[in-house]
Amino acid sequence: MAAVNLSVNGQAKTVDADPDSPLLYALTEDFLLNGPKFGCGLAQCGSCTVLLDGEPVRSCTLPCSEAVGHEVTSIEGLGTVDQPHPLQQAFIDEQAVQCGYCLSGIMLYGKTFIDSNPNATEAEILRSLNGLICRCHTHVRMAKALMRYAEGRRA
Ligand code: FES
Ligand code: FES
Repeated sequence: MAAVNLSVNGQAKTVDADPDSPLLYALTEDFLLNGPKFGCGLAQCGSCTVLLDGEPVRSCTLPCSEAVGHEVTSIEGLGTVDQPHPLQQAFIDEQAVQCGYCLSGIMLYGKTFIDSNPNATEAEILRSLNGLICRCHTHVRMAKALMRYAEGRRA
């Protein structure tokens, strides 16, 4: 175990952790976040996704020591209940979610894709979600929410 300095959603904290342990464990156990989820633990489903300096990473396989010196953002860091991020509002408006287990991956990969490709077609958005598993099969509705977010980005 060692002291590991992390910054998550703007909150700096020193956690006592094995530097090789997954970042996801520190996020859930030390930062008490429940947005990033443990799904496969093998970097295959995307449910544990967070942004590391703005780029999506799978926190189930990223050693927490590799997040030192970087800013980690989970879906909780995008907005608040009172002031949701436009992406979160788009998902609410489209009623895009069922259980929400996959949401970290879909929203954070989707946001990264749309922010770089605001003119993407629905087919391109759906393709960008490849490799993100939604066991409720709501990819089509989530793509519509991402289209709505993209419209807002273009406005
Ligand atoms: S839990 Fe990390 S990719 Fe599945
Ligand atoms: S909404 Fe349930 S796993 Fe995607």
